[in-house]
Amino acid sequence: MGHKKEHWTSRVGFILASAGAAIGLGQIWKFPYVTGMSGGGAFFLLFIIFTLLIGLPMLISEYIIGRGSGKEAISAYKKLAPDSAWVWVGRLGVIGSFLLLSFYSVVGGWVLIYSVRSVLGKIIAEGADYSALFGSIISSPVTTLVGLFIFTLLNVIVIAFGIANGIERANKIMMPLLFIFFIVLVVRALTLDGAMEGVVFFLAPDFSKLTGESILFALGQSFFSLSVGFSCMVTYSSYLKRDVSLTSSAGSVAALNIFTSFLAGLAIFPVVFALGFEPTEGPGLLFMVLPAAFGEIPFGAFFLALFLVLLLFATLTSSFSLYEIIVAAITANGKLSRKQAALIIGLVVFVAAIPSALTESVLFDVTIFGKTIFDATDYLVSNILLPLGGLLIALFIIHRADKSFVKEEFLLAGNAGETLYKAWRGLMTWLVPIVIIVVFLDTLGLTKWIFG
Ligand code: ALA
Repeated sequence: MGHKKEHWTSRVGFILASAGAAIGLGQIWKFPYVTGMSGGGAFFLLFIIFTLLIGLPMLISEYIIGRGSGKEAISAYKKLAPDSAWVWVGRLGVIGSFLLLSFYSVVGGWVLIYSVRSVLGKIIAEGADYSALFGSIISSPVTTLVGLFIFTLLNVIVIAFGIANGIERANKIMMPLLFIFFIVLVVRALTLDGAMEGVVFFLAPDFSKLTGESILFALGQSFFSLSVGFSCMVTYSSYLKRDVSLTSSAGSVAALNIFTSFLAGLAIFPVVFALGFEPTEGPGLLFMVLPAAFGEIPFGAFFLALFLVLLLFATLTSSFSLYEIIVAAITANGKLSRKQAALIIGLVVFVAAIPSALTESVLFDVTIFGKTIFDATDYLVSNILLPLGGLLIALFIIHRADKSFVKEEFLLAGNAGETLYKAWRGLMTWLVPIVIIVVFLDTLGLTKWIFG
């Protein structure tokens, strides 16, 4: 069955699926460690501003392109701008998704390994060194590759069975459960001795800690966590019926994104400071802090296992969406079936992810611009490709797409009025491109050169 015939069964179904696509490792794994490395409160504030003023208008734009055209990412640009180079925006999105998956799946594998070990009761132990445990897991080539393989296989199976069946059903149960767990964790974190230091670190902005690099990271994080900039949401919203308001759906997803990041920060940083971790630990932060935090709760081992399984679900719902954009693109011409496409892409992603999986073991010495392969891929995708894709989408929706078509989609089925439309247009015309360009120039060290 072609993907075009399938539809989200309800508005809530779409919001949950879209939030499921957005909410995953971005908020729960990446946000805390990037915030930790970027100085805390000021970064969080900047992330919120970028999410509201850049990410949210971007999300609405991708929805307009997707629902308006009714096509997946590549065909959408072909339909709205026939015979033009704009199709490359969709193609870049597919490439971005693919590269993103190549490190995302590695972390998905870590989550899987932690889930299995915790179900077997093999994580939490009296006096355990959780930093050393994380180090031993990621430095084992066999463990990381097995995790990656099983994670990829899970994705292939669900994707092969199609949109509404696989994704929507799982999301409706798992997402609310994850929130409940998070709240339990936050309460425990906040009642630890010394928790306040973490709260201050996370919520009190100290702007002297912001650097050009951390501004770029905040921008990249707002794109990454909302899954915008690579037309993933174009594909997702192409399954959306016309009786759903794009603006309110996007608003709900952006709000959920900020809320989940907030919960993650509030669950992690008090534990970091109370139990003596470093906020600058990097990608291992979550995996070190979680067992330590659950170790402080009665029946901690049991709850850790449950939490990790839910985290695995949140991760999978995001990775499904990344697979979906590629699968939808390569099945669009009807030559390959969904099942064949899922299998082929799974195989290619697995192979492409191997270097990132081995980054802390066999390929430890290989660096690109001073970064490990894993970090370099993440940096390239999150901080360069996604904002670049965002810039192109902004140019497309304002300067190329038909103005009345865009307006109609924006206003359809909702109570967003003329004022909101003008505000959105203003942001997409001016703020989004200008901020992206200035942040890029700054990263390249060119703003000093231009502005002295
Ligand atoms: N938006 C997805 C996530 O944050 C990629 O996990």
